[in-house]
Amino acid sequence: MSTSPAELVRQLLDWYHTSHRDLPWRRNADPYRVWVSEIMLQQTRVEAVLPYYERFLQHFPTVESLAMAPRQEVLANWAGLGYYRRARMLHDAAKRIVRDFGGQWPADYRTMRSLPGIGEYTAAAIASIAFDQPRAALDGNGLRVLARFTDDRRDIRGAACRRALQVLAGSLMETVLPGQRGAFTQALIELGATVCIPRAPRCLNCPWKAACAGFASGTAPELPVKGRHRTLRRVELSIVIARRGNRVLARERPADASIMPGFWELPTVEGLSGALPDPWPVGLREVSRLGAFSHAITNTSYACQVYEAHAESSRVSGYRWVAVADLRRKPLATISKKALRFVAGTIN
Ligand code: ADE
Repeated sequence: MSTSPAELVRQLLDWYHTSHRDLPWRRNADPYRVWVSEIMLQQTRVEAVLPYYERFLQHFPTVESLAMAPRQEVLANWAGLGYYRRARMLHDAAKRIVRDFGGQWPADYRTMRSLPGIGEYTAAAIASIAFDQPRAALDGNGLRVLARFTDDRRDIRGAACRRALQVLAGSLMETVLPGQRGAFTQALIELGATVCIPRAPRCLNCPWKAACAGFASGTAPELPVKGRHRTLRRVELSIVIARRGNRVLARERPADASIMPGFWELPTVEGLSGALPDPWPVGLREVSRLGAFSHAITNTSYACQVYEAHAESSRVSGYRWVAVADLRRKPLATISKKALRFVAGTIN
């Protein structure tokens, strides 16, 4: 006989209450804090978020303080976490919450969904964790757990599979008692992050092993099925460190740039060659190549060559001479930051 949803929920919650990691966002269910954690955790591992989370909240302890802060300050406090669009949407949503709701986080799921950067998963996570509402939040971890649990061998990216797993998560959540909805959401995430992990799940430690169809049939390690990966787009970049004493040429990316607006960067052009690419945005001389590195973001792999050069005139259109120490205090594009490592020790 199959295990009832209420019994599965009980098994999962019992396991969670004794086995979960003590993470900073689990100590306080204030919606602002939960929201910041969920946005930081999108596409980013827990270990990478930990050093940023408390620091960000110390800097912006309330939604009002975040809303009032200049954009640059928000980006500077996000610098290093990547996917900066998240920080811009967080900032925009904070302004909306202050303007439209007097700084009070909205408890209504639909209202949350209408805020910038808040999709179905994030709204359900905040609704359940901060407001104890019976909304089932399924992120990649949760989808993997339930695909294995039901031995669902369809493509996890497909709508049919996702819909079926969302229905299952919803029917489990229905049976969760008030006061435990947030714990259930966290428990599903936790199971996926620590036991039902990709490739080598630790099925013997799993509270659901007796009822898990993927464990019974031995398919769990191969699940979920993922349709063919999109191949990484390769982009070649040349980056120039044009020096004048301790200063280098740099610019602030335009506010309307589609990627990384408001970030600072060294002169960077697409194209890779032994010599400097043409056309180059600045007049340069005495070019030498310092080295190369690669940098991957989302679905793009950047192959970067770094050059050192001197500017032919003191005025270079669109660029400013900035002390490297000042540049490091600004939100600086990671690729430029990596390029500056080639002159570490010779310039500061
Ligand atoms: N990933 C997304 N949300 C999370 C949470 N609340 N705890 C741990 N990892 C997560």
